[in-house]
Amino acid sequence: MDAQTLKNLLEGDWRSFQDCLKRQLGSDVAYLRHLNEEVLSHAGKQLRPLLCLLVARVCASESGSASVSDLAPDMPLPEQSLRYAVAGELLHNATLLHDDVADASDLRRGRPTVRSLFGADVSVLLGDYWLSRAVDAIVGPDDFDPRVVRIYTKTLRDLAEGEMLQLEKAASGDTLEQDYLRVIYSKTASLFEACAVSGACSVGADEARMQAVAAYARNIGLAFQIRDDIFDYSPEWNTGKPSCEDVVEKKITLPLLGAFENAGHQGETDLRAAIGRGDADIRERVLSYVREHKGIEYAQRRLQDFLTQALSALDVFPGGRWREGLQYLAHYIGDRTL
Ligand code: IPE
Ligand code: IPE
Ligand code: MG
Ligand code: MG
Repeated sequence: MDAQTLKNLLEGDWRSFQDCLKRQLGSDVAYLRHLNEEVLSHAGKQLRPLLCLLVARVCASESGSASVSDLAPDMPLPEQSLRYAVAGELLHNATLLHDDVADASDLRRGRPTVRSLFGADVSVLLGDYWLSRAVDAIVGPDDFDPRVVRIYTKTLRDLAEGEMLQLEKAASGDTLEQDYLRVIYSKTASLFEACAVSGACSVGADEARMQAVAAYARNIGLAFQIRDDIFDYSPEWNTGKPSCEDVVEKKITLPLLGAFENAGHQGETDLRAAIGRGDADIRERVLSYVREHKGIEYAQRRLQDFLTQALSALDVFPGGRWREGLQYLAHYIGDRTL
């Protein structure tokens, strides 16, 4: 299972998205052009624009739109759909450029990070540039859609609050599952939601469909971040990112919280204290605790619960290739290894 299957399904819409993305990043500053090419040459999975465009397609099919009549499959999506897809991908990359500075990370997409190649200052400023281009794509050249501006404004706030809450919890060492869920909603699922809702707005979806895609995206977004947090406990997988780092940064994620739960909280106080002190052998200790108490299995079960909710939100849509595409995306998120 891979995301390429879904990009093939979108055909011309996906090619138009790629063109729009490149256009949006144009600049007369040569250094920026060089850096943009560096990032785009290893572009990542581009799941957020995929989500936005699939949602636009499913909402525009079979009279689900209040203002756009059924879009014939051979008609291109409106320009707004492409702009919102571009905005989602730009915003995502901006957060990664900032995140790799916050996490002092050297590896992303199997390559040295912009931070390690060019410095933290360049990574932050490039992130700001991509963020500014995202805002421009949201607002657009003519009349902007206030609902879309509002949803992305909320997501920007969520992103900053989520990262800050994560820092607060790393310092206090008392993360509970409810804190963890708020962090991952804010730093990851909120952007998935914005991509989906903006895709729905771009084709004038009715309220019921808008709610359905919001619930779907929120739930796959939570599942997506849980899977990412499982990666950190799976050093044997080749994810192109460092592993066993979260606990060194004092971040307590679901595999460890699940292990605490499964262990009936035995050894939890000692382990939390050792994480807080940053003991030299903390990686090995936590990894073996998580393995012994089946923390990864716990996290994978929780992730599956979110995917079940995501899939049931799709019931409002007629069957067909676009709904199947969204179902495929949910399954892919549940067992991806990249
Ligand atoms: C990584 O996201 C950051 C998280 C929210 C976990 P992706 O795994 O979507 O990153 P790329 O863009 O495909 O590299
Ligand atoms: C997710 O956080 C990144 C953002 C949403 C900014 P992580 O720190 O877990 O992401 P990776 O593992 O570096 O991709
Ligand atoms: Mg990181
Ligand atoms: Mg981070």
